[in-house]
Amino acid sequence: MPTVRVTRRAHFCSAHRIYRDDWSQEENREVFGDCSNPNWHGHNYILDVTVEGPVDPETGYVADLKVIKQVVKERVVDDVDHRNLNLEVPWLEGTIVSTENFAVAIWERIRGSLPSTVRLHRVFLQETPNNSVEYLGPEGD
Ligand code: NI
Repeated sequence: MPTVRVTRRAHFCSAHRIYRDDWSQEENREVFGDCSNPNWHGHNYILDVTVEGPVDPETGYVADLKVIKQVVKERVVDDVDHRNLNLEVPWLEGTIVSTENFAVAIWERIRGSLPSTVRLHRVFLQETPNNSVEYLGPEGD
């Protein structure tokens, strides 16, 4: 059976701030620039979740994308959409909410909830049209 990767896209809007508590305002500004603005700023995030698996001969699908959509919604989007990532999302607590860390946290949130017939291949997270990251999972996963 051929193995195929399929991707489901989600959109959400969130506020955040990139900073370290243990640095002064000046140090934060030096390293993180405008991203450290104490009064927060927002992004229109795009999240692509790619799963990989065999094509089911009966349905022609790798996975029902409605199911993938639901997992991403329940495990990620419902928690972060129109929220402050620093203050309102328990699973990001204690994390510097860079796009990198956010993508890794999203991976951990969804990997255990996907149908058993697929394997999570990639989390792509776009913060701005110019800035995005991808995470392919821990080494050897
Ligand atoms: Ni930002």
